[in-house]
Amino acid sequence: MIVLGIESSCDECSAALVEDGRRILSNVVATQIEFHAPFNGVVPEIASRKHAEWIRGVVEAAFREASLPLEAARGVAVTNRPGLMGALLVGLSFAKGFAWVRRLPLIACDHMLAHLYAANLAVKGDAPPKYPFLGLLVSGGHTIICKAVDFETITVLGATADDAVGEAFDKVSKHYGWGYPGGRAIDALARQGDADAFDFPLPKPSAGGPCAVSYSGLKTAAIHQLNLFCRKKNYSEVDIAASFQKAAIETLLRALFAAVEQTGITTIVAGGGVAANSYLRTRLSSVSLTGHGGLNCIFPPPELCGDNGAMVAGLGNEYLSKNRVSPLSVTASARVAAFKAKN
Ligand code: KG4
Ligand code: ZN
Repeated sequence: MIVLGIESSCDECSAALVEDGRRILSNVVATQIEFHAPFNGVVPEIASRKHAEWIRGVVEAAFREASLPLEAARGVAVTNRPGLMGALLVGLSFAKGFAWVRRLPLIACDHMLAHLYAANLAVKGDAPPKYPFLGLLVSGGHTIICKAVDFETITVLGATADDAVGEAFDKVSKHYGWGYPGGRAIDALARQGDADAFDFPLPKPSAGGPCAVSYSGLKTAAIHQLNLFCRKKNYSEVDIAASFQKAAIETLLRALFAAVEQTGITTIVAGGGVAANSYLRTRLSSVSLTGHGGLNCIFPPPELCGDNGAMVAGLGNEYLSKNRVSPLSVTASARVAAFKAKN
């Protein structure tokens, strides 16, 4: 079964065709980065307007890239939560129109569950991860450590008390003028820097349990309090980038390892833009925990960590194969209340 997936929750306008939830036939991602870069962040109104301008062409390109006619799609999956409201409504409305005219089932999908699904896409032909596993969902808007028991049922074990990890990368990068999106810019700069030049704190929120994280203190330290944490006389900006990245990812790992301790689950599936981070990927590839041995860490390939239609089509296929479809009256939500940690 071939499903069309549409993603427009933030600054990527994307459409994909995926077969049986595994095989990517096409995955077109039109990025708006150049339009938001002058502002060092996503401007919601620009995002909505660009999606409205591009969505038809992007969907057409997905069929063209797969060399398939419109009739090939058996369902339309679309992100309807969480994200920028105006941006979400463009993809959702287009998907509804497509589904209505072609008499296809519509499946409204959660963006974070779609990120968690990305590791199932058979890019390297690996078998899909087996449930239950721990999810490490790290993006520009969310930082979630969860236990996943099936494709749609997650228990949030920890979340951020303030900024999302990707947001902290973006804000630090914006302050130093390193470029947008900040995560990718810092990842590249950090390769030339000394990660031990600054001994930034790994802050822990007082509430939310051992798997909760906080990023506002680290962000302030990296921007305004360099002198307090400096261990090197002549440091340069690459050292700030490398030390910040190390502290940001180690903060995440401390919470993740607490989740392994708490649940005894040693398979970890990562997703979201920050899952492309090279320090995170390298660190998790070699980690072993006392009492648990090596962890089985599964990352989507970097190009499937950021927002894309293929992960939405894949998740939509799961619902569709269980005859779970959405009414054409389904609406969008900017936030998802369940993504807060339960104390
Ligand atoms: O999932 P995503 O593409 O969009 C949202 O759902 O938010 O994630 C975007 C976030 C941005 O904050 C961006 O700076 C971050 O992912 N990001 C990275 C890297 N690539 C993208 N953060 C750290 N290292 C990277 N290599
Ligand atoms: Zn995302």
